[in-house]
Amino acid sequence: MTILPKQARIVEVGPRDGLQNEPEAISTEDKRRFIHLLVASGLQQIEVTSFVHPKRIPQLADAADLIRSLQPHPGVTYSALVPNMKGLERAQETGIQRIAVFTAASETFTQKNINMTIKESLDTFRPVIEGGLALGMSVRAYVSTCWVCPYEGDIAPEQVLPVVQALAGMGVDEISLGDTIGAAVPTDVKRTMDLLLTHHPADKLALHFHDTYGTALANVVAGLEMGVTTFDASAGGLGGCPYAPGASGNLATEDLVYLLTRMGVETGVNLGKLAEASAFMQGVLGRRLPSKQLQRLMANMETGASLCS
Ligand code: HMG
Ligand code: MG
Repeated sequence: MTILPKQARIVEVGPRDGLQNEPEAISTEDKRRFIHLLVASGLQQIEVTSFVHPKRIPQLADAADLIRSLQPHPGVTYSALVPNMKGLERAQETGIQRIAVFTAASETFTQKNINMTIKESLDTFRPVIEGGLALGMSVRAYVSTCWVCPYEGDIAPEQVLPVVQALAGMGVDEISLGDTIGAAVPTDVKRTMDLLLTHHPADKLALHFHDTYGTALANVVAGLEMGVTTFDASAGGLGGCPYAPGASGNLATEDLVYLLTRMGVETGVNLGKLAEASAFMQGVLGRRLPSKQLQRLMANMETGASLCS
């Protein structure tokens, strides 16, 4: 029998990955309230926004105001995406403690997403990472399209490894591997992780699954069985990348918390309280969010139970 880890760490990306593709402007106050509720659920790592070009991601143009409005909480770390030195300068002014750089294993996706080749992106990140670390920030990195690229199709593990190695050599403390369009299945995850884990310890790698094809939870189990303990997810299953056509939301945090808890893996997150955060954002957006656990809890509530029951 596979021995599962006792605990897993969830990186909540709902306020950033979840909201970045929303077409209608969401007020800074509603974002602040959403993040406040996420913290109240026990989430400790929350990616709140991005310092990218505001014309490319208008929804997150209020990044600086949002970060300044957030209440600090012991044990809670807020982070933001930073693609270049201009982004680092903007991030620094807000006092944020953690930043994340982001590239991909596919050239076409990198070009469409950040207007750079993979090599240019790595050259751009080196001073961003050094600068961030010198400012006392911690730095995460993302590698998108680790399994399937919306433009190039299947991505071989051998294409992912050199990007991960380059980033690991620059001093980031964690590399999150993205299934950007949510097409991977557990055998894909195992193949790529088999190669990566021969070069990098599992505690330096995170898995970031989108759920377009409904395989994200199965992929989490594959990752868990290989020793990975950090998973990215988005409250309610919000999300999608505007430069990955067809990509739906991230794996829903509620569904991840349910799975892990039921498998005996602690997350420190209260499912009912988390559903309150998602229910709040569902009200702001005016549509049902895809998380199965959220919808189950909300249906229970209609019968008189509270979300936390
Ligand atoms: P660019 O146009 O190549 O930038 O954009 P540039 O360096 O040539 O500069 C052009 C202008 O942009 C200049 O202004 C810069 O100052 C300005 P001008 O002199 O013309 O007035 N500029 C900026 N302004 C504000 N903040 C900045 C910034 N940088 C330059 N940081 C850039 C390059 C990367 C900025 C652009 O392509 C961009 O913003 N892309 C956004 C990509 C994005 O946010 N994608 C979604 C997130 S990634 C994701 O979702 C995947 C992930 O979830 C994992 C997964 O699922 O796989 C992480
Ligand atoms: Mg993503």
